[in-house]
Amino acid sequence: MPGYVIVGMQWGDEGKGKIVDFLTSQADLVVRHQGGNNAGHTLVVEGHQTVLHLIPSGILHEKTVCAIGNGTVLDPAVLVEELDEVSGMGIACEGRLFISSSAHVIMPYHKILDGAQEKFRGKNKIGTTGRGIGPAYADKADRLGIRFADFVNPDRFTMKLEEVLDYKNAILTQTFQLPKLELDAIIAEYAPLAERLAPYVADTVTLVHKAIAKGSRIVFEGAQGCMLDLDHGTFPYVTSSTTLSGGVCAGAGVGPKEVHGVIGIVKAYSTRVGEGPFPTELLNGTGELLRKYGQEFGATTGRPRRCGWLDLVQLRRAAQLNGVTSLVLTKPDVLGEFDSLDICTGYEVNGETTHEFPAQLDELERAKPQYESMPGWKTDISGCRTWDELPENAKAYFLRIEEVLGIPIHIISVGPGREQTITRQDPLQVQA
Ligand code: GDP
Ligand code: IMO
Ligand code: MG
Repeated sequence: MPGYVIVGMQWGDEGKGKIVDFLTSQADLVVRHQGGNNAGHTLVVEGHQTVLHLIPSGILHEKTVCAIGNGTVLDPAVLVEELDEVSGMGIACEGRLFISSSAHVIMPYHKILDGAQEKFRGKNKIGTTGRGIGPAYADKADRLGIRFADFVNPDRFTMKLEEVLDYKNAILTQTFQLPKLELDAIIAEYAPLAERLAPYVADTVTLVHKAIAKGSRIVFEGAQGCMLDLDHGTFPYVTSSTTLSGGVCAGAGVGPKEVHGVIGIVKAYSTRVGEGPFPTELLNGTGELLRKYGQEFGATTGRPRRCGWLDLVQLRRAAQLNGVTSLVLTKPDVLGEFDSLDICTGYEVNGETTHEFPAQLDELERAKPQYESMPGWKTDISGCRTWDELPENAKAYFLRIEEVLGIPIHIISVGPGREQTITRQDPLQVQA
């Protein structure tokens, strides 16, 4: 039985969490494979909202196993807090939540350095979430990171930390003129967290492959979005992991043949948190209305999200980079008040029209969106549960997206609630 990847097709916050939760009713295993608690995935079930940063969004389905793969970077305090929240809802995690022994630990110096580096960059800051993600991935690439297998072994943790702390303290004190960190204080903070998390630590690669051998259905839950990808996003205004569908292979330890479908989550308009180019951004009243109707404030940092029209040039690129087999369109209900809607179908760069997403930042910064206008539907569609119930103008908007991208929209989400979902075709039955 197949594995399906959920990917964000824009700059994150497309509604991946809601869709993973929705699809998990049919999944045996849900795996997070990259990113860390820079992610904020919101689920609304029977009116109750849960925001998950690290625990996979399948956790509310008690029969589903959840795994956090080797490609992630995890802040143990955030994970413990989240475990407490989920347990407080009466949902058991032990025996069904597994953390890869190869996942990396976010250490106090990663969080401090994230802030210090942003300050150092000044007006060129990235606008990170400040959670230590970039420095933790940098240490992994630098082979200085501490993995969960070492973290939950008190002697090995002390040894690994001793090896790295002098070096980190030299950077903190000499480069950034910040106070040095004490080994004992870090151990005092981290040891109880390690003890608490130790029962969850496992070889998740074996777990995933046992599930594959059993014929289980697996959902791989991407975090962030295509344009935040380290290689293919709007570098340097990106996150530090591979956010594309291809990242599943390295981040969960599976080969590409285990990926049977790629489900691209597209918000019906565009948003972005943090700095960096955003061609269709609306710095006017329309942008403010999108933010207000869509409640576009970050699930992790609470920052207002930048808002703009849907960008099909950007989305074509995302479809290419991810090999998308199904689209899920989220939040079109937010557009119900507008008389007309603009869709970007081309960019003007250096006086010429292009339909290709510019690979280089300077060109992207100069790109002027070319819009096609479509009539709005001026109706509240949040109560619709079938395609036939949708107003004609809404259907026309959705069909135009399908037409330009050449990929079918299999699910339309019309509200944050699990039940506010229209399934045209089950994306988990589609084989690439
Ligand atoms: P994620 O990071 O991709 O999981 O998305 P977030 O949870 O950060 O942001 C999506 C926000 O939109 C959350 O507040 C969701 O509850 C909400 N949401 C998801 N789908 C819909 C939808 O179809 N309509 C509306 N109005 N809100 C939605
Ligand atoms: P989910 O999974 C939206 C953005 C940050 C910043 C850039 C780098 O909820 O969609 P980082 O802290 O990762 O080094 O910040 O990436 N960013 C996100 N934006 N949704 C996310 O996750 C994000 N995770 C990181 O705002 O611009
Ligand atoms: Mg989010």
